[in-house]
Amino acid sequence: MPVIRQDAAAVRTVSHDLPYSDELKRFMAQGWRPAPVSDGRALPGAAVTPARRAQLSARFPGERLVVPAGELKVRSNDCDHRFRPHSAYVWLTALTGEEQAGHVLVLEPSGPHGHEAVLHLRPRSPRTDGDAFYRDRRHGEFWVGPRPDLEEAEQLTGIRCVPLDRPAREISGRNADRDSELASVLAELRLVKDPWEVAQLEEAVRHTVSGFEDVVRALPRALEHPRGERWVEGVFNLRARAEGNGTGYETIAAAGAHACVLHWTRNDGPLDARELLLLDAGVETDTLYTSDITRTLPLSGRYSSVQRQVCELVLAAQEAGIAALRPGADFRDFHRAGMRVVAEGLTEWGILQSPDGERYRRYTLCSSGHMLGLDVHDCARARADAYLDGTLAEGQVLTVEPGLYFQPDDETLPAELRGIGVRIEDDLVITAEGARLLSGALPRTPDAVETWMGELLAA
Ligand code: GLY
Ligand code: MN
Ligand code: MN
Repeated sequence: MPVIRQDAAAVRTVSHDLPYSDELKRFMAQGWRPAPVSDGRALPGAAVTPARRAQLSARFPGERLVVPAGELKVRSNDCDHRFRPHSAYVWLTALTGEEQAGHVLVLEPSGPHGHEAVLHLRPRSPRTDGDAFYRDRRHGEFWVGPRPDLEEAEQLTGIRCVPLDRPAREISGRNADRDSELASVLAELRLVKDPWEVAQLEEAVRHTVSGFEDVVRALPRALEHPRGERWVEGVFNLRARAEGNGTGYETIAAAGAHACVLHWTRNDGPLDARELLLLDAGVETDTLYTSDITRTLPLSGRYSSVQRQVCELVLAAQEAGIAALRPGADFRDFHRAGMRVVAEGLTEWGILQSPDGERYRRYTLCSSGHMLGLDVHDCARARADAYLDGTLAEGQVLTVEPGLYFQPDDETLPAELRGIGVRIEDDLVITAEGARLLSGALPRTPDAVETWMGELLAA
């Protein structure tokens, strides 16, 4: 059965390259001076990785642990998606770049209890080897840029490095029984952030705030464009790419009723000044930590009374959720607190007959927060007793993001509410006393949003 294959290994990347004469090959092999790529200093973040590896090691005595960075993924024919290493690999090595594709961290059992960390890395492209240097479009340094040599990588990471000589799946071997345990333990170890990680998340938030400001300044132009949502996405993403690695997830730029689609990333609609824009976006730093913030903005600069009413209920739910955050609280407490406010509000408005039961969920549906860190939905492989059914701990970072999504075709709603979607999402770190708002630089109340927009649009 013939099948079209589109994995990286199946694609020929040299299909339209002209042949090279022997004379050119000889010429290309000479005249290169050594050109180190690092200055001998360790990577930001490398100082904290030995303790992380030690924590992991202690959980798997005598077992070989394999943590691949991941493989390139074909986007179209011989072009790949931009590579971003797996978050567990980043957490254990501090290595973050696109050149990590295919690399593998192995913790080899060593001594009676511990492990030795070994990084399997692609060495530099030898200038004398044309196949490796200038004919390999995926990894040749002539195509994709220089990467650290093994010695340099050891200085950068503090980890012993060996040449990568086979694909990650061969380094891993076939024993998959313990894979799920390894993924869960790694996610659980990442639940509490150290001070360096919190500083990365603060930086992510700072740049995200700048991106939201850029979007407000660009609204007059975006309102004119037939695909204003795309204009908004582009403006935010420019900031993300300029200040960090990019966005931590696909930007949601949802105008009008598109805001009722929880993850609207098509972003192909126009903006209408009478409607709201729900912007859910986050900058990912170069160290690969992301923020995740949502504001729902009036495109005219002023909320209508019904828009304001919905925003105020969502804000009250968020305040109640935030007030429930503290070490030792159930993870579900902030969700319960916020959703109670939503259910009572909907009852007051006559949409529900009672706040009890689950009917309120028709109008909100999604969970009202999650862990945040290297992944936007961080630590997703953590087991329920450590996360969903667990308790909060100092140093955890999470979002609180209640929303109301009044679908445009929902006949249970009064007409004036249909097509209004509002989410307010902020990032917080759990402290000894409660929680600290990381994203407080962006206004949250309707009045403060209007003032902030007015100032940016007048400048
Ligand atoms: N932006 C995805 C989320 O808020 O969870
Ligand atoms: Mn979120
Ligand atoms: Mn979000």
